[in-house]
Amino acid sequence: MRNVEPIRWTDEGVVLLDQRRLPGEVIYLTYTDYRELAAAIKDMVIRGAPAIGVAAAMGIALGVSHSRAKTLPELRAEFKNICDTFARTRPTAVDLFWAIDRFTRKFESLAQNAAQNNFDAIKDSLVEEAQQVHRERRDADEAIGRFGAELMPASGRVMTQCNAGALATGGIGTALGVIRIAVETGHTLEILVPETRPYLQGARLTAWELQQDKIPLTLITDNMVGHFLKTGGVGAIVVGADRIAANGDTANKIGTYAMAVLARENHVPFFVAAPISTLDLSLASGEQIPIEQRAAAEVTHVYGVRVAPEVNVANPAFDVTPAKFIAAIITERGVARAPYEDSLSRLAAGAQTPAAR
Ligand code: MRU
Repeated sequence: MRNVEPIRWTDEGVVLLDQRRLPGEVIYLTYTDYRELAAAIKDMVIRGAPAIGVAAAMGIALGVSHSRAKTLPELRAEFKNICDTFARTRPTAVDLFWAIDRFTRKFESLAQNAAQNNFDAIKDSLVEEAQQVHRERRDADEAIGRFGAELMPASGRVMTQCNAGALATGGIGTALGVIRIAVETGHTLEILVPETRPYLQGARLTAWELQQDKIPLTLITDNMVGHFLKTGGVGAIVVGADRIAANGDTANKIGTYAMAVLARENHVPFFVAAPISTLDLSLASGEQIPIEQRAAAEVTHVYGVRVAPEVNVANPAFDVTPAKFIAAIITERGVARAPYEDSLSRLAAGAQTPAAR
């Protein structure tokens, strides 16, 4: 998957691989209007917390680069409006808000030195910054992969959840990056992939990614997770994250919490792999993480075909796994273990720790 790019900055606009059409069709869409790019994030053309962060960074750069503002106050107002548009897309994925914060700081530092009526330098710098965010994502994934691979079993089954792969980050993936580097460095693994209803990121995206890389996999339905953890020789679980609170509580795709509890019951180590940008140390615990509620039609319909009568539906896109079920959190700066308040704050402050075994 080093050749598949879910997102790319080009002179024509921001190019996205349309993940709604995978695995059947590989179609790229070019976005020249930031509002349409924001709508694409909401509509799952691109998804996965780190990739959403890259998309927001490129979207902000795109919006500002098309601005016709004549004065700095006008440009600042437009900048804020663009950021607010992206902030309204996906509430749980904190990489989105990380990107908005980073661009707000960058904008203000550029604005201090801006020429009177010429904002070309600001526009160029924001476009460069967006591409820098993308480069950092790729580097982070490689580092996460190297740290995490050491924690994977030498052989046997590894379970994952949803899609935390190249499609979800713009690099080699977080959880799938760990798996990729483990396989590249000689681990003989078979990946158990739950389909991940209702949006089927496991069946449509993770199965496709692993198949492209010729990594052996077995696709299962979500309700088989407990059975395989009890009987299936699973040596480890590695998943991604959408937001990690200061105490290590982790929001990830709905179903992750049940997987983690069942992992504990069956003595299977449960690892989270995520970049530092997915940490939200402003939240003391996972109880404060906002959970995105998505449309009922994702549950009542499969590929546009109604599979349920018209009834009351719940569709939380994420759940929170308490830190006590997490064996370690793998970041690009090293591996954090409990107590997470200490280990995560050290990593966030820039400390590098070697991968613990
Ligand atoms: O709703 P999605 O597809 O954006 O959810 C994605 C996940 O939950 C991923 O596991 C998470 O974002 C980590 S991706 C590296």
